Amino acid sequence: MNYLERTDMIIIPGPGSVKLGVNVATEMGLAAHPVKHRIFPDGGSYIRFTSSVEGETVVIIQTTAPNPNRRVMELLFMARTAHELGAERTICVTPYLAYTRQDKRFMGGEVLSLDIVLNFLNHSKVDDLILVDAHSEESLRIIQRKHNVNVHNVSAIPYLAMYLRENGFKGAYSLSPDKGAIHLVESAARVIGGEYGYFEKIRDRNTGEIEMKTKDIDLSRQNAIVFDDIISSGNTTARAVQGLKKQGAEKVAAACTHALFMENAENIILKAGANPIVVSDTVDADVGAIKVSVAKVIAEKLLELL
Ligand code: R5P
Repeated sequence: MNYLERTDMIIIPGPGSVKLGVNVATEMGLAAHPVKHRIFPDGGSYIRFTSSVEGETVVIIQTTAPNPNRRVMELLFMARTAHELGAERTICVTPYLAYTRQDKRFMGGEVLSLDIVLNFLNHSKVDDLILVDAHSEESLRIIQRKHNVNVHNVSAIPYLAMYLRENGFKGAYSLSPDKGAIHLVESAARVIGGEYGYFEKIRDRNTGEIEMKTKDIDLSRQNAIVFDDIISSGNTTARAVQGLKKQGAEKVAAACTHALFMENAENIILKAGANPIVVSDTVDADVGAIKVSVAKVIAEKLLELL
């Protein structure tokens, strides 16, 4: 059945993703039904659905940054409420899922946050969860097995790469700041058409300090791009940009899926010599970077699931 003929599906943008949620609905030729939302004086969230969900396949679109704790809580509120009000199936689209980096006990006694978040989603009766460039697909799969939620991971990287290919970076060298993100540059390089590689990154678990060991790559007269899943403080990307410059790269771009961009991140990266910075809209960040939308890739995945 053509999706436009479906009447038993409803798209609900949550407070974290109003713009992206409306764009996904538009991509699918459907109306969006954003929730009513306000913050109580004590900081808690009030949410009310604006249309009936009874008997529907409900698609809740809610990212979880900035304000990860509030946004995760709101996601759970909406998912559980959809179930209680009679939704037939609940699909949560959480373009950026907070806590995906805390997917292991790196030190004894640590909270396994990702496991607990998935457990909550399971108890909120979420059937499917769509993420964009989940931090570690491997950890996600291991943790997913413990819970009754089907997790689907889509990627913004080919879209970021397409933008860069069309804007002066065709054939550029694609670099991941660490080995864990090598799959990102593999997929970017398929679009860009150049070579790819990674730097050795060592993070001190106590202080968060990063040591980045550069590999010997000769990049003279070549353009290069740093791809990462997340830019938070900007330090990782900035170090990688500097490393590429040191190795002779001419123009260096920085690209990431989740633009968390804490404090001075954008300036740190620009100062390191990156131009342009290209990010996706999984997080509704107020940044000067060029934005490439994930609305289409999310809409395509939803169509596949329906
Ligand atoms: C870590 O493994 C991630 O892939 C990113 O490299 C990291 O989150 C970036 O953080 P920051 O911008 O604070 O250096």
